[in-house]
Amino acid sequence: MTSPAMRLGKWHQGYLYVVGTLLVLSGALWLLFHYFVRMPGQFGDSPHPLEPWWLCIHGLSAAAFLIGFGSVLPGHVRRAWVARRNRISGTFFFSLLALLIATGYGLYYLGEDSVRVPVSAVHWLVGLGMPALMGWHIWLGRASRKLKHAAAASAATASSVESEQALRLVRKP
Ligand code: HEM
Ligand code: HEM
Repeated sequence: MTSPAMRLGKWHQGYLYVVGTLLVLSGALWLLFHYFVRMPGQFGDSPHPLEPWWLCIHGLSAAAFLIGFGSVLPGHVRRAWVARRNRISGTFFFSLLALLIATGYGLYYLGEDSVRVPVSAVHWLVGLGMPALMGWHIWLGRASRKLKHAAAASAATASSVESEQALRLVRKP
């Protein structure tokens, strides 16, 4: 059996991008509705009927994203780590995703407002920064591949020049 590759296939990437977008979008829409889109009611403003739906979609996309997260660990993360590629942004990305998972878990079970409010703030502030962080991770990762290819190509050219020079020396009468 062949082991999974470091580079993600088209479908694998597509899955992560679609589910990741849904995750951020549903969280952002919940924030927008919770703080800015309220319904005037008999006893003051009340939540808009769509508000709970954003969390419903968020919970579903979080579960789907966790599948994607698990799916990159054995191939992508392990192999890139062993090859010493993109370790800094990868570790940063991985750690903030772990923080999102931990705070998301906390939000699901914490009732006490004094704890829930700061956990919620950390969760959505980190969450809103995720698209930029992912973009940075991908950009640096691809740049590191190009750099590696360029280094390999120049090493190959250098070694062929050296062997040509050595051949010339050997052939000299
Ligand atoms: C792996 C990533 C993530 C996981 C596992 C996750 C999980 C969760 C969970 C379980 C909840 C509680 C749902 C409930 O109370 O019914 C939640 C709430 C929330 N999440 Fe996420 N989430 C993630 C990423 C994000 C991202 C990227 C954003 C971006 C904006 C975000 C924004 C929010 C917001 C605004 C809430 C509501 C906060 C509150 O109730 O005070 N989450 N998340
Ligand atoms: C320590 C952890 C990680 C390391 C060392 C790492 C390393 C890399 C490297 C080297 C690349 C460029 C691959 C290439 O084009 O040759 C890359 C790209 C990428 N990474 Fe990571 N990564 C890590 C964690 C993650 C995680 C947790 C995710 C998603 C949940 C992720 C998603 C991606 C995606 C979508 C790309 C662009 C697609 C690709 O080029 O294959 N990475 N990463």
